[in-house]
Amino acid sequence: MANDSRHVLVVGGTAGIGLGVVQALGARAVVWSRRHGVDATDEASVELAAGELVRARGAPWGLVHTVGDFFEASLLATDSERFNSLLQSNLMSALHVAKAIVPSMIAAQRGRVVFFAAAGAGLPRAMLRAPAYFAIKAALVHMARSLAAECAKAKVTVNVVSPGLIHHDQSHQESQQRMLPRVPMGRLGTVADVVALVQWLLSEDSGYMTGQDLPVDGGLQL
Ligand SMILES: NC(=O)c1ccc[n+]([C@@H]2O[C@H](COP(=O)([O-])OP(=O)(O)OC[C@H]3O[C@@H](n4cnc5c(N)ncnc54)[C@H](OP(=O)(O)O)[C@@H]3O)[C@@H](O)[C@H]2O)c1
Repeated sequence: MANDSRHVLVVGGTAGIGLGVVQALGARAVVWSRRHGVDATDEASVELAAGELVRARGAPWGLVHTVGDFFEASLLATDSERFNSLLQSNLMSALHVAKAIVPSMIAAQRGRVVFFAAAGAGLPRAMLRAPAYFAIKAALVHMARSLAAECAKAKVTVNVVSPGLIHHDQSHQESQQRMLPRVPMGRLGTVADVVALVQWLLSEDSGYMTGQDLPVDGGLQL
């Protein structure tokens, strides 16, 4: 799987879960993040980087989009500027990257797309801890379903991974400790817990699964 035609673009691959995905992929990973000069919220920046990548190495086999800022506050205490920033980070960046990369996968008639939402975002219930964030993640889940349907004939799958409370160096540890008693498994998740699912979604074996939102949350939403 190390040959060039199987490269996987990881957007947000310099920290947390994305970094874990990059480490698991080794030489197959192509990493974009702001510190690599690609701002995924900036459509022009994404289009430029995508053009260079596809010209140099062809369509990626996989696209993993992990960008997504978190913010805890009630809806009425979330100002429009903050909401828009969350929207850009969690949703628009995913749309920009999908529009720039997925057409090359469709042309190649194969591919795997993985987006990141958050456990519970797809459920019909209030999410009082971080309502703006969860509303936007819910939109991402729905967008992914539609993209999955658009791409299915081309054998490009599109799925969503929805982490629960995943501990890493930059994770929101105070919030995670507060929520920990609600996790039936009694522990925070690890990056490795999530990477295992991403690796499977990037494999040939997952080719008949598309449009799904898959929680990795130790039972948090049960
Ligand atoms: N960790 C959890 O417990 C948890 C729980 C539920 C959902 N999630 C979701 O899972 C995903 C990954 O979470 P995480 O905790 O690993 O995230 P993270 O630690 O915040 O890492 C985010 C990555 O995205 C990059 N990034 C941020 N803004 C960017 C931009 N505008 N353009 C390009 N790259 C950008 C960052 O690198 P640069 O700073 O270099 O740009 C970094 O590599 C997110 O979508 C998050 O919402 C996480």
